[in-house]
Amino acid sequence: MTHTATQPSESPVIGVFDSGFGGLTVLKALLTHMPHAQYAFLGDTARLPYGSKSQRTIARYAAESAQFLVNEQKAEFLVIACNTASALAMEAIQAAVPVPVLGVIEPGAAAAAAHSRTRNVLVVATEATVHSHAYAAACQRQGLHGVEKACPLLVPLVEEGWVDHPVTEQVVSIYLDELMAEAQAAGQRPDTLVLGCTHYPLLHKVFQSKVPVGVQVIDSAEATAAAAARMLGLAGRSLRADAVPAPSIRCFATDSVEKFERLGSRFLGHSVGKVSLVDLGG
Ligand code: DGL
Repeated sequence: MTHTATQPSESPVIGVFDSGFGGLTVLKALLTHMPHAQYAFLGDTARLPYGSKSQRTIARYAAESAQFLVNEQKAEFLVIACNTASALAMEAIQAAVPVPVLGVIEPGAAAAAAHSRTRNVLVVATEATVHSHAYAAACQRQGLHGVEKACPLLVPLVEEGWVDHPVTEQVVSIYLDELMAEAQAAGQRPDTLVLGCTHYPLLHKVFQSKVPVGVQVIDSAEATAAAAARMLGLAGRSLRADAVPAPSIRCFATDSVEKFERLGSRFLGHSVGKVSLVDLGG
């Protein structure tokens, strides 16, 4: 469930949350759709990865992170860029903060529905996301059949910066072969692959080069940003440059600030600036 914002503001404070800095791919898309908003991005790097943890732990971490963005950074709207938190912690987040919250799963499934002709889609994600079957359920709501696959080795490889690495290519190939075999055994003819994890868009080219011809690789960042702009009443608005403040981005991390500053630019496409360290407890 998501809430709908009622009072659009010209430059709302939008809180963007991820377990790490991979969610900067979603912030990048948000900047394109709403360049005049003010962004507070939190990467819970001290407690990453979420994808291998239990629902209870993910919900607690995500709720605390959401409270930081709303209570301390005054976010009026939250985008949960983390697929794992979107899959397992939406209710906990919504209960923890009094602002509208948008996750990435429903927009991702909607994007798949817009692309797929065969109505058969593949989803790759973390262990926890796949175990929750949140994508399969969201696909079903869109009239799609989704076959999901956990790819636990990919987050560490991307964190290591191995995005153009033969080992990563081989790992992607193995996961895709297994996923295709599973889809075929179920009589599916997939034509769309959803990258259901913040880190996988950095491997978009690798995935696209390894999927069978005719399968399109998509991620939820663009669809999520478009949905956020609609909810905030800012979709397709062209504002006078002098009427609103310039876009502002404040980044926070719970650990590894230097690594965030160094690697974050890969996800955002430009420098993330100075990252502030925050302590959300254990
Ligand atoms: N942000 C997570 C996701 O999108 C990936 C990293 C993690 O496991 O925490 O699922």
